Amino acid sequence: MTQLLEILGCKHPIIQGPIGHLNDPKMVAAVSEAGAFGMLALGFERDLGNIKRMINEVRELTDKPFGANLMIAINPKNDAILELLTEEGVKTVTTSAGSPKKLYPKIKELGLKVLHVCLAAPPAVKAADAGADGVIASGTESGGLRTAGPESTNLILVPLVCDIVKLPVVAAGGIADRRGYRAALALGAQGVQIGTALLASEESPARQAYKEAIIGCGDAGTTLLPVGGITMRTIINPKLEGLMASGADLSKEYAAGNRNKAWSKGDFDLYPAGAGQISALINEIRPVKDIIEEMVS
Ligand SMILES: Cc1cc2nc3c(=O)[nH]c(=O)nc-3n(C[C@H](O)[C@H](O)[C@H](O)COP(=O)(O)O)c2cc1C
Repeated sequence: MTQLLEILGCKHPIIQGPIGHLNDPKMVAAVSEAGAFGMLALGFERDLGNIKRMINEVRELTDKPFGANLMIAINPKNDAILELLTEEGVKTVTTSAGSPKKLYPKIKELGLKVLHVCLAAPPAVKAADAGADGVIASGTESGGLRTAGPESTNLILVPLVCDIVKLPVVAAGGIADRRGYRAALALGAQGVQIGTALLASEESPARQAYKEAIIGCGDAGTTLLPVGGITMRTIINPKLEGLMASGADLSKEYAAGNRNKAWSKGDFDLYPAGAGQISALINEIRPVKDIIEEMVS
C-alpha cells in the first residue's frame, strides 16, 4: 500500500477536488462509495451547524472515509472547523489558498493528516517544512483559483515536486480518464485529485447548464480570469469572448462576489463557469462510479 492510501484510507488514490461554492454531502458519499476519497469543500463555509449536518448526512450514506478542504487565507472559522472535524472523526484534511504555517500547528495538535495544495514547487517545500503529510501539485491546466503570474503545467510541476519533497505527491489538474491517471502516476504522483470531471458527473450538485458548459467546452476553451490579484480558470462563453476581443479590463467586468450566485443559478453572463482545461476531454455526463472505475481500469 502506498503512503497516500495509508493517509486516505480508501481503495483508489483519487481525491475529489473540492468545489468551493458547490458542496453536497450526497456527492461526497458517492465518491467515497466508489472507492475514491470524497471531500467536503469548507473553504467558504462558516456555519459550524451546517458543517455538522453535512458530515452526518455523508455518514448516513456511506461508512467509507472522506475528508474536508480548508482555504487557509479565506475562512476565519478554520480553527473551529478543525476542532469540529476532529470531534466528528474526520481524519484527513487538505489545505489550499494560504500559508500552511498559519494553520498547521493546530492541525498537528489535533492529530489530523494533511495535504497541502501547491500551485508551484517552492510552496511544496514550505508545506513539507510546516509538517504536511503530502502535497497536491496543481498545474496551470487545473480548474479553480490560480496565481496571476507564470505557471507550469503538471507535466513539469509534478516531477519537479516529486524531486524536491520526500512526501507523497498528488497531481491535480488535467485528469479525467485512465490516460491522465496513468500519466500522473508515471510522473511520480501517488494519486490524483479530480475537479472538473466530477463537477460534470451525474451526482454533482452543479446545475445542468453548468455540466453542459463543461461538455460544450473545447480545446483552448478556458482562460484565467483576473480576480483581486489572483485568477480563476473559467470557460470562455460568448460574453467573455466578446470582452476579451474588445480588450476590456476583465477584472472590472466580473465581481468575485457574484460567483456563488452565478454558479448556483447557472448564470454565466454574471460570472463565467469555473472549470479546468480538461473540459475539452469531457464529453458526457456520467455517474461518479463509472468515472472512477474507468480511471483505474
Ligand atoms: C469551479 C471550481 C472550484 C474550485 N474550488 C476549490 C476550492 O474551494 N478549494 C480547493 O482547494 N480547490 C478548488 N478547486 C480546485 C479543484 O479542487 C481541483 O484541484 C482542480 O479542479 C483539479 O483540476 P481539474 O479541474 O483539471 O480536475 C476548484 C476547482 C473548480 C473547477
